Amino acid sequence: MAKEILGVLCSGRGTNLQSILAAVDSGQIPAPVGVVLTDKPDAKALERAEKAGIPHFCVDRKQYAGKQAFEEALVEKLRAHGVTLVILAGFMRILSPYFVHEFSGRILNIHPSLLPSFGGAHAHRDVLAYGVKVSGCTIHFVDEGMDSGPIILQTAVPVLDDDDEDTLAARVLEQEHKLYPRAIELFLNGKLNIEGRKVRIMESI
Ligand code: GRF
Repeated sequence: MAKEILGVLCSGRGTNLQSILAAVDSGQIPAPVGVVLTDKPDAKALERAEKAGIPHFCVDRKQYAGKQAFEEALVEKLRAHGVTLVILAGFMRILSPYFVHEFSGRILNIHPSLLPSFGGAHAHRDVLAYGVKVSGCTIHFVDEGMDSGPIILQTAVPVLDDDDEDTLAARVLEQEHKLYPRAIELFLNGKLNIEGRKVRIMESI
């Protein structure tokens, strides 16, 4: 089997990246992170990659005339580092069908709600405004829609009466940091079986 290499895309602080790097170090994730890319020059994820000694680049969206050119630059960097599995970890851009086809079936995303509820960029705010009692996080394959690909794993957390966006986000984030490494581990170990929208896990979790 070809050697798997992860490429992690982030837009901001990169705590999920950090949990993935820790899981690579511990051996839970059986593949290295080959490159970290951000779309913003000030993303803290770049510092985390630097500290971990991992190649990292900002592919600044502002430097490109259009989405296609921007995504071609991302693909070029990922290919140059031998990336076989793309991990979106707080990457705040919607990828076009062009990018999705380049890594077909090999792009994972994390979303801080229980999809298909509360997709989009303001999940915690929307959860609180709606008044649901349970939220959580979702790891899913990326398809051409927004937050719409087959779901791999989810974890639920309670929404408390006195929650604000920060307290809810912190409770969800704690679970995100466990769930993403687990999903990547399952993928790389060939334990995920996709049947239409359903992802069957070939061992107990
Ligand atoms: C996480 O809550 C993730 O689910 C969402 O953006 C946040 C990124 O956090 N997509 P971090 O950059 O990994 O700390």
